[in-house]
Amino acid sequence: MNEIEGWKALAAVQAVGCIVSGMTVGLGHGTTARYAVLELAARLRAGSLTDIRAVPCSYAVERLARQERIPLTTLEDTPTLDLTIDGADVLTPTLQAIKGGGGALLREKIVAQATLREILVVDATKLAPVLHGKVPLEVLPFGWRTQIEYCASLGGRAVRREKDDKAVLTDQGNYLLDVDFGPLDDAPALAAALQERAGILAHGLFLDLVHEAFVAGADGVRTYPPTPLP
Ligand code: A5P
Repeated sequence: MNEIEGWKALAAVQAVGCIVSGMTVGLGHGTTARYAVLELAARLRAGSLTDIRAVPCSYAVERLARQERIPLTTLEDTPTLDLTIDGADVLTPTLQAIKGGGGALLREKIVAQATLREILVVDATKLAPVLHGKVPLEVLPFGWRTQIEYCASLGGRAVRREKDDKAVLTDQGNYLLDVDFGPLDDAPALAAALQERAGILAHGLFLDLVHEAFVAGADGVRTYPPTPLP
């Protein structure tokens, strides 16, 4: 395992320490959140955690959770989750984040909004003083090119995410746009403008949705806010 993978695992394992028996848990998508799923499964096997039910944020995570025999539930049966552990692409010390690099942003946001305690786990390379970089959008295939124009009207350059010259599809069968808006000087205003557009189903700006973060780097694991919530 290289250094950054080690940091991801460290942050994820520390976050799993916040789970107690009897909780309902959201399982995030991505390479960092995957370590949390594996650690949760290990603790269930060892018996140090019991009576956990989990909601995965993607089909890929659902497959992993089933393989690891983590008991699952759904948001239909369990509309409020105690705690979710997820990754992020960019995270600020004030717990604003950009997510969606792995393409699961819509489900991740639904799960985050249904969660009492949203915990992000990242390696220290993701920590930044202000949000920056591309913002992923999940858009309906119908009229998707109009969203490129709309992003341009907001100062953004949008590119459809593709693999082997084909559109990448989300678990919902939608497209993803990665949008370079330049410096995100007013993320709340941008989020509001994206939110009001028909056909844009989710944006990767997670503003005021995160309660806590574990950031692992060369100097160990830091928690944000510095004193963890009780
Ligand atoms: C998935 O859609 C994303 O929000 C991920 O949580 C995010 O991209 C971080 O992924 P990694 O942990 O793989 O970097």
